[in-house]
Amino acid sequence: MNKKLTSGFLWGGATAANQCEGAWQEGGKGIGLIDIVPYGPDRMPVAKGKKVMLDIDDKHQYPSHEAIDFFHHFKEDIAMFAEMGFKCYRMSLSWTRIFPNGDEDLPNEQGLAFYDQVFDECLKYEIEPLVTVCHFDLPVHLIKKFGAWKNRSMIDYYIKFCKTIFKRYKNKVKYWITFNEINMLNHLPFTSCGLVLENNEDEKHAKYLCAHHELIASAKAVKLAHEIMPDCMVGCMLAGGSFYPYTCAPADVWQAKQTERGNYFFIDVQSRGEYPNYALKWLEKDGIELDWQANDKEILKEGTVDFIGFSYYCSRCDTADSEITLNRMAANAFRTVRNPYLKASEWGWQIDPLGLRITLNDLYDRYQKPLFIVENGLGAKDTITKDGSIEDDYRISYMKEHIKSMIDAVVEDGVPLMGYTMWSPIDLVSASTGEMSKRYGVIYVDKDDSGKGTLIRKRKKSFYWYKKVIETNGEVL
Ligand code: BG6
Repeated sequence: MNKKLTSGFLWGGATAANQCEGAWQEGGKGIGLIDIVPYGPDRMPVAKGKKVMLDIDDKHQYPSHEAIDFFHHFKEDIAMFAEMGFKCYRMSLSWTRIFPNGDEDLPNEQGLAFYDQVFDECLKYEIEPLVTVCHFDLPVHLIKKFGAWKNRSMIDYYIKFCKTIFKRYKNKVKYWITFNEINMLNHLPFTSCGLVLENNEDEKHAKYLCAHHELIASAKAVKLAHEIMPDCMVGCMLAGGSFYPYTCAPADVWQAKQTERGNYFFIDVQSRGEYPNYALKWLEKDGIELDWQANDKEILKEGTVDFIGFSYYCSRCDTADSEITLNRMAANAFRTVRNPYLKASEWGWQIDPLGLRITLNDLYDRYQKPLFIVENGLGAKDTITKDGSIEDDYRISYMKEHIKSMIDAVVEDGVPLMGYTMWSPIDLVSASTGEMSKRYGVIYVDKDDSGKGTLIRKRKKSFYWYKKVIETNGEVL
């Protein structure tokens, strides 16, 4: 059997502006959502039943303010991506670099010029940019003034942002994603879409309202992108990882299916252009009325995505048994029942390479659209040996097993896959914890959790390994 990926396979890496750029107040940038999210126990207040803080103070440390200072290091970083042979670099744009408050009439030229330079640098090395319009990011001003995505006016601000960037970068960027991990809205509502609940506000209703507005915005953006850039491809993005039933008891199978649907709901709409029946029934059952407007249905139909992007770190498990349900653990912000067959990372995310093949097949069976693995990687602590090297064999082993599984899905199961961008080629701030010590990179960045360090970059052992993988198009692992 032909064990090869096609020659145009887009190997590369993925980052997000809010986790790597820093320079939070340079170049006319406004304050973005992650700029007010601190490191430490107050990072995820909602999960702890606390109030979201919408202003910064001097008691907390805010990792995004400097991050890894990609803003000033991008040439050096992209040169290292090129040295590994990257064909693709997935990145996101900081909304507040371009519209500092979100509701200005005109964009900030300095912000636009910065991304011109970043794209030019990529194209110089023949690296295709894959751009996420919104990756856990939006102007704080829009949260304070309108309540973020709960408010329908967000659609217009988002589309204005899209129109600006599509027109500006139409000759530089062919691949776009409208929202990062749109289903994360269920799990990290503030980080994902700036949702702040008012007193006594119904959480489910608020979440569905945000979802509806994001889905309409996404569909409008897809249509607009196709009008401005007829050859571009626009994708959705799922925080992926199939849900397994904990046992073959039908009640467990049903429970896992329901939980899975809670995640698929968003991309079901983005890829099929309509709300699935099960979601309509859920809304009806919960008495939730959305603010459907006359042409919403048509907008959804006209703005279906061209490909399905997804992240994969781990699989998940669910059960109908309330006692077992107590034995839950983290799986990329999802709570999952511990799977007894799997080992876990230092952060408790269970490692399941075959789960990637299962997820790829599940997604293709469901949508029949090209897929793109836009995040996959291992967050781990690295140590520098006496001779200065970083021997991250655990990361190599994680990536090797996942890439093998990915190749099996492509060559043995026939799943059409556009590319693989690992998370993240370079150490950056962890989205969930704000730590630097949760390192994903094949490039090390000298910075610790307290924010100290020289920011010097260093190649890890995995850097050379991944370079070889790309060079041989996945034949040498
Ligand atoms: C994905 C996000 O959920 O997982 C990234 O798109 C994030 O932004 C990545 O960084 C890894 O999660 P964490 O919490 O370990 O940074």
